[in-house]
This record gives sequence, C-alpha cells and structure tokens, in this order.
Amino acid sequence: MMILRLCSGMQRVVPTITRLHVYSSSRAASSAASSMKRAERQLTSQEVYAREDKYGAHNYHPLPVALERGKGIYVWDVEGRRYYDFLSAYSAVNQGHCHPKIIAALNDQASKLTLTSRAFYNNILGAYEEFITNLFGYDKVLPMNTGVEGGETACKLARKWAYTVKGVPKYKAKIIFANGNFWGRTMAAISSSTDPSSYDGFGPFMPGFELIPYNDIPALEVSPFHHKENTTVLFIKWQEVNLNVKM
Ligand SMILES: Cc1ncc(COP(=O)(O)O)c(C=O)c1O
Repeated sequence: MMILRLCSGMQRVVPTITRLHVYSSSRAASSAASSMKRAERQLTSQEVYAREDKYGAHNYHPLPVALERGKGIYVWDVEGRRYYDFLSAYSAVNQGHCHPKIIAALNDQASKLTLTSRAFYNNILGAYEEFITNLFGYDKVLPMNTGVEGGETACKLARKWAYTVKGVPKYKAKIIFANGNFWGRTMAAISSSTDPSSYDGFGPFMPGFELIPYNDIPALEVSPFHHKENTTVLFIKWQEVNLNVKM
C-alpha cells in the first residue's frame, strides 16, 4: 500500500524535476553513500544490530552476530572474531565463502553479460539445464532464485499434474503438509504454516492445504480420507539447518 502510494507520488513529481534538482539530489545521494561507507568502517556489532533494527522491517530475528567477511568454512564479524559457518546460509553456500573458482566465474560472467531475463535465450542457460538434468536424471528443470519459490513451484506443478494427469476436478486439489513446517514466507508458505509468527495477521489464506502431525503415518492415512481422490501431493520440506532440527 505504502509502496503504491510512493510510486504514484513519484509519477506526478518526476516531470517537474529540473537538472539542478537531479544534480543536487544525486550529489546528496553520493555524499550520503560515502558517509555511509565511512560510518560502516567504525560500526561495532551492537551498532550494526541497532541500525538494522531501526531501518529494516522486523520480519526476521537474526542471531546476534554481525558478519563482515568469509573465506571457506570461516566467517569473521565486524570486530574480527572468527567463527565456523555451520549454517552456510541455510545451505545456499555449502560450497563455502568466496571460493576463487566460483568468484572468478561470477566476475567473468557479470562483466560479459550481467542479466538477460527470460525474455531472451542466452548461450549459458541451456548448458546448465542439460548438465543438471543429466546429473539428477530428470527430464526438465525450472531454476528458481529462492527456496520459497521452489516450494511455490512444487505446489503449482502438483496442482497442474492433479488436473491434467490424475483427473482431480479442477481447483479441488489438496496438498498435505506436516505441522511445524517452514519453507518461507509467501502466501502459500504461511497458509501451510502452524506457526503464528509466520501467519498471524496475514489471512485470508490459500485454500486446498491440509495439515497433519509430523512423523505420524496413521494420521497421513486417515486424515485426508474423506477427500482422498482429490489429494494431490504430500509436501515434505526437509528442515536440516534451523534450530528445531527435524529430519
Ligand atoms: C528452512 C527454510 N526453508 C526455506 C526458506 C526460504 O528460503 P528463501 O529465503 O531462499 O526463499 C528458509 C528461509 O529462511 C528456511 O529457513
């Protein structure tokens, strides 16, 4: 809501901006950026927490460690303390931090062609798709940017498969989740959540989701019985790294 209002405000303002305005505001922005850089060098962990707390939305509760750099399995905080990174960005950097081969490939590609979007073909995507499908023995792949998009796509695929292959009546598909799951914070993810800190205040929720107790096979057999023919998929998201370890 606020973003929409800001955008429409900007549309009205933009035509009246003069060169001087643009120049002075860009100068202000660059001096703000350089003072930010200066300030950043001096921040303590406590100051890092306080600044994020003040300017960032409170949608996450990080552990009290203010990281500044990493190499391999290690990360260092702003005071220079070294840690083992057992979390590895919830497995997004299982390969370790700043691997020279990966950084070189990143730099190489970004300086040759930064981003194409899916509006065009490019000479790299197909090579990756061929490699990864061969590696895992699948027919096709749809890469996603984030974990939660992977879950969203799995739900969409399951529903489409239910209607086009299994013969479930259109829009009657059910997806079963286990209590205590966490797979992100999109509308679908929170609609399948049993954690009020994820869903409270964000309804109405997505229909077509069923919840059963975790690790309870009889509940799985009995719970969806009355609409079994519409059950599409059992969605299990392995949660290996969060504090409540469940496998
Ligand atoms: C267990 C788990 N699954 C999924 C996600 C969502 O991943 P992403 O932020 O890449 O969408 C998170 C994010 O914190 C997570 O902790």
